[in-house]
Amino acid sequence: LTDLVDLVTANDAVPSREADIEAFRQEAHRVVDWAASYLGRSEQYPVLSQVSPGDITALLPVAPPLDGLGVAGTIGEVERVVVPGLTHWNSPEFMAYFATTSPPPGIIGELYTAALNQNALVWQSSPAIHEVEGVVLDWLRQMIGLPEGFFGIIYDTASISTLCAVAAARARAVPDVGNTGMVDGPRLRMYASQEAHSVVDKAATILGIGRENLRKIAIDEDFRMKPEALNVAIEDDLAAGFHPFCVVATVGTTSTTSVDPVSDIADIAERHGLWLHVDAAYGGAAAILPEMRWILGGAGRADSLCLNPHKWLFVPVDLSAFYTRHPNDLRRAFAYVRPYLETDHDEEVANLSDFGPQLGRRFRGLKLWLVIRAYGVKGLQEIIRGHIELAKDFEAWIRDHRDFELLAPRPFSTVCFRAHPPDVREEDLAAVNADLLRRVNATGDVFISHTTAGGRYMLRVAIGNMWTKQQHMDRLKEILATCLAEV
Ligand SMILES: Cc1ncc(COP(=O)(O)O)c(C=O)c1O
Repeated sequence: LTDLVDLVTANDAVPSREADIEAFRQEAHRVVDWAASYLGRSEQYPVLSQVSPGDITALLPVAPPLDGLGVAGTIGEVERVVVPGLTHWNSPEFMAYFATTSPPPGIIGELYTAALNQNALVWQSSPAIHEVEGVVLDWLRQMIGLPEGFFGIIYDTASISTLCAVAAARARAVPDVGNTGMVDGPRLRMYASQEAHSVVDKAATILGIGRENLRKIAIDEDFRMKPEALNVAIEDDLAAGFHPFCVVATVGTTSTTSVDPVSDIADIAERHGLWLHVDAAYGGAAAILPEMRWILGGAGRADSLCLNPHKWLFVPVDLSAFYTRHPNDLRRAFAYVRPYLETDHDEEVANLSDFGPQLGRRFRGLKLWLVIRAYGVKGLQEIIRGHIELAKDFEAWIRDHRDFELLAPRPFSTVCFRAHPPDVREEDLAAVNADLLRRVNATGDVFISHTTAGGRYMLRVAIGNMWTKQQHMDRLKEILATCLAEV
C-alpha cells in the first residue's frame, strides 16, 4: 500500500512533458524580463552583499521539499532567497578582484547551452562542441596575435588550465609517469615568480611535484620575475641533481597586474629544455588591442598559454581558453583507453576528453562564440580600450591627490594604490587603509579589493565590467575622499 501511495504521489507531482514545457515557455519569458531589468538597474543593489554568514541558509528549509513548486514557484524562491545573498559581479560598480561581465549574448549562450545539454565526451557525442570550440579558439588565437600551430581547448578556469599545463609538462619530462607514478629519478623542479597565482602551487601539489619543488623566483621593483634569478635557480638545481622541467610566467599578475618578461624567460626555458607556460588569465585579453600586443611578446615561443575570457572578455563565468604547441604531451597526460567510447572517427578527430581531466564537458564555446559574434573584434577592442582609459584617468587622480599614492605600475585597467595622508606614519598605513576599504565597501555603492605586495598593503581598483563608465569612477573618487576624511 505504501509503495502504491508513493507511486501515485510521484506521478501526480511530475507535470506532463507538454505542461512542463508550456510553463517553461511562460515563466522563462518572465525571467528574461527580470534579467533584462536587473542588468539595467544592478546599481540599485548594494554591490557587496550585506548579509551575514548563515543568513541565506536560514531562509531555506532544512529538509528537502517533498512537494514540487512547479517552474513558476521556483522563480519567486530565487528572488526571495538568492538575490539578497548576491555580491553583484555584473554591476558596473564592481571593481574588486578582477571585474567581469555577463552580457546579453553570453546569457543567451548559457540559455542555449542548458537547453541543448550537450556533453562533449568524444567527437560523435557532440560534433558541434568539438568544431565550434576549435574554430572560436582559433579566432581568439588570431585576436591576441598568437602564431599558428597552437592547439586550443576550453577548460572551466585558469586553475584547471594551469593544472593541465603542468601535467603536460610533467608528461614530457617523465614520459611514463602515467604508468609508474612519480617513483624513480631525480626530483622534478618547477619555477614561477613570487607574484604567481596560487593555482601554480595547487598544480604542484595535485601533480605530486610538491610545493617544496616549486621555486618562487625573486621579482624586481615592478613586481616582474627577474630572469637572471630564474637562471641562477635552474643552474643551482641542476648542480644539485634536480630535474628542472617547467616554468610559469605571468602576464597580468593577480595583485599588481605586472607582466613577466616572457621573451627573456623563453630564452632561459629553451636553453634548459623547460616547458614554458604563460598564465595570462586576466591580462591576455588586452592583447586584442594592437597597442597592447607587446604583453604577449615571446608568448609564441611558449609551450602553453591560458587566458580567461570570463575575466576580461565579457563571457559569463566560467571559461578559460588554453593553448599548447604540444597537444601530444597534453594527450599523453590525459588520454585513457575506454573501449566503450571508441568510435569510427577516432583517427580523424581530437576527442576533447583525451586532453583534460574531465570525461564530460559542457558546451562553453557557445557563449564565447556568441559574444565574439555579437560585438565583433572591434566592439571588444573598444570596450577594453575604454577600460584602460578609465584606469589611466583614475591613476592620474591618485597621482595628483595629496592623500593618496600609487604603489605599482598600471599596464592594464587595474590601479594599485593606498591612502597616505602626510601625517600618518608608515607603520599605521596598513590599518588606515584596511579601515578605509571597509568604509568604502560598506557604502554599497562600489566594491573594491585589497592585496599585499612588496610588503605593503594596497587597495586595488580593477575596471572590467563593460558597463563601467566615467560616472562610476567619479562616484568612486567621491567615496574614497569622503571615507578617508572619516578615517
Ligand atoms: C593570474 C591569474 N591566474 C589564475 C587565476 C585563477 O583563475 P580561475 O579562477 O579561473 O581559476 C587568477 C584569478 O584571478 C589570476 O589572476
